Amino acid sequence: METDLKTVHGVLALAAALLAPATQAQSSLLQHPGRLLASGCFQCHGTNGLNGGFDALAGDSRTDTLNKLNEMRRKPLRENIMFPHASGYTNEQLWQIADYFSKLPKP
Ligand code: HEC
Repeated sequence: METDLKTVHGVLALAAALLAPATQAQSSLLQHPGRLLASGCFQCHGTNGLNGGFDALAGDSRTDTLNKLNEMRRKPLRENIMFPHASGYTNEQLWQIADYFSKLPKP
C-alpha cells in the first residue's frame, strides 16, 4: 500500500515537473507588452493570431511579420487593407506586436 502511494506521488511529481515549463511560458506571455496591442489584430487574424478570416500570425517569425508590416506602411491605402493597421503604431509597438505573435505556437 505504501509503495503504491509512493508510486502515485512520484508519477504526479513527474507530471507536475513536465507541465511546469509550459504553464510558466504561457503565464509570462500574459505579461507581454505586445499582447494588448496585438488584440487590435485579433478581429481579422483570429484571437491570438489563430483561426481568423485572414492569415494566421501566431508562430510567424518576428522579422517576417515586421518586414510585411513595414511593406504595408509603404503601399498606398487603396491597394492595401492593412495600411491603417500597420501605420497606427510606433516602430517599438510593431516590434512588440511581432514579438508577441512570434512566441505563440503555430496553429
Ligand atoms: C480589418 C481587418 C484587419 C486587421 C484589424 C488587421 N489585419 Fe492584417 N491583414 C488583413 C488582410 C485582409 C490581410 C491580407 C492582405 C493582403 O494580402 O493584401 C492582412 C495581412 C497581414 C499580414 C501579412 C500576412 C502574410 O502572411 O502575408 C500581416 C503580417 C498582418 N496582416 C499583420 C497584422 C497585424 C500585426 C495587425 C494588428 C496590428 C493586423 N494585421 C490587423 C486584415 C486585417
